[in-house]
Amino acid sequence: MKAIILSGGKGTRLRPLTYTGAKQLVPVANKPILWYGIEAIVAAGITDIGIIISPETGEEVKAKTGDGDRFGAKITYILQDAPLGLAHAVKVAQPFLEDSPFLMYLGDNLIQSDLRLFLEHFQTASLDALIMLREVANPTAFGVAKLDESGRVLQLVEKPKIPPSNLALVGIYLFSHIVHQAIANIAPSARGELEITDAIQYLIDGPKNVEARQLEGWWLDTGKKDDLLEANRLILDSCPDCNILGEVDENSQVIGRVQIGANSRIVNSTIRGPVIIGNNCHLENCFIGPYTSIADGVTAIDTDIEHSVILQGAKVIGIHQRIVDSVIGQRVQLKVAPQRPKALRFLIGDDSQIELV
Ligand code: TTP
Repeated sequence: MKAIILSGGKGTRLRPLTYTGAKQLVPVANKPILWYGIEAIVAAGITDIGIIISPETGEEVKAKTGDGDRFGAKITYILQDAPLGLAHAVKVAQPFLEDSPFLMYLGDNLIQSDLRLFLEHFQTASLDALIMLREVANPTAFGVAKLDESGRVLQLVEKPKIPPSNLALVGIYLFSHIVHQAIANIAPSARGELEITDAIQYLIDGPKNVEARQLEGWWLDTGKKDDLLEANRLILDSCPDCNILGEVDENSQVIGRVQIGANSRIVNSTIRGPVIIGNNCHLENCFIGPYTSIADGVTAIDTDIEHSVILQGAKVIGIHQRIVDSVIGQRVQLKVAPQRPKALRFLIGDDSQIELV
């Protein structure tokens, strides 16, 4: 059994962060999203993993993630020249996959449940495809499955105007080598992509052995800001440890589950967990509230923040209105003068969003 993780794509919905980096490397609780997928796959017993990368962000993904040693896996990087669809990514990976059955994982998805049960069922029932479904409130935004009364999959529809059910297709699939034949027989969709839903529909119509299972626990597609923050909340909620390596002065208070990395200094501040703070940070006169992740090398002075993610090297100074529900990019500088500011001065990248509410 092998696995592929799709870590190419355009990431338009997470701009401007994805202008300068891969969305799959954006950290959730200070760990790249992609790594949660790798860990889940290795925990299910699959160690031969191919990662699909794009020409734009592939080198960064490779440099950060390495050859797989740190995960106890062997990682092969597979270049997809252009983001021509999920089924196109499988086509590009065929020389790596050969005739092996495989798990396919979208690199921006996060799930709570264990993949082992799905894998066992796929293998014992000798399936050609096992798809995972999850009830959602807004099925029009997803690939949706139509099932018969016995739960057999009849049809998959991509972003339907009138959804046949509220069961969305989760970005984790299991396939036998038969899927390559299906992909060879489908044409690009109206948006010019080879769709994995079309390949699965081809298998259903075969008819080949296709089953669906409902996923328990949470599932998040972190391709948008609010989903990213929700993933950060859920992961921080499940971090059991308190681990303080940095220095906390006597005027500071650390309450609840808080991790503080090496060489970080907390001065005259309150940190109310769950919170994770990376290495080499300087926080002074701050309130850091629940569900905040602060990456390495961040400076925050005279600042209140909660339910937010601050990326590496950012500086946030003098923001006394509470910052909430925010993602602050790498090396961003947010500064408010100590006296009441008379003007706002910006140098903000394309597609940035600033709300003074
Ligand atoms: P999507 O989130 O559907 O696509 P995207 O990354 O281009 O994002 P956006 O819609 O915001 O522009 O992709 C799901 C995952 O699959 C994601 O990790 C990127 C990856 N992917 C590929 O590796 N190759 C592809 O051709 C496509 C379409 C996606």
